[in-house]
Amino acid sequence: MLALLADSYSIHFMDNRDRQAIENIIGKTEDRAGALLSALHGITDKLGHIPVEAIPLIARGLNLSVADVYGAITFYKDFRLSPPPLNVLKICQAESCQSRDASGLTRYARARLGIGLGEAAPDNKAAIEPVYCLGNCACSPSITHNGKLLGRMDEKKLKELIDAIEEKP
Ligand code: FES
Repeated sequence: MLALLADSYSIHFMDNRDRQAIENIIGKTEDRAGALLSALHGITDKLGHIPVEAIPLIARGLNLSVADVYGAITFYKDFRLSPPPLNVLKICQAESCQSRDASGLTRYARARLGIGLGEAAPDNKAAIEPVYCLGNCACSPSITHNGKLLGRMDEKKLKELIDAIEEKP
């Protein structure tokens, strides 16, 4: 099964430190109810994703099947099997932001980064994701960059942000 997964995801092999961190997290969660989700959240918080190689470790540690662990990872949107993009731009697509040209911002970001909404760049440097209200309607249009809320966004500010993303190695 892991060989099949390796074909589907860009595999990032764990080093010994990652393995130790994962084993510690599993050790702390194995006796608790909801141990699998707790372990998956713990690993995601620590490493940003769940390495494919960790799946059998988690399964063995929690006395589950590999299919159980894989099923939970792929069922919940919070979990991912490859590292997250370095820059995640979430562009609000809800009504207030749409009335203030969120579509134009989305088109601009797509054109600049060469990716669609909901996609990540092949080099994993950036991703654009839709979001439906950031609770910042009074300052529409709103976006987030790696979780940082940015209101009253316009194309000039977005250009500066994307310029900075592209300039970073
Ligand atoms: S609609 Fe965009 S922040 Fe509320």
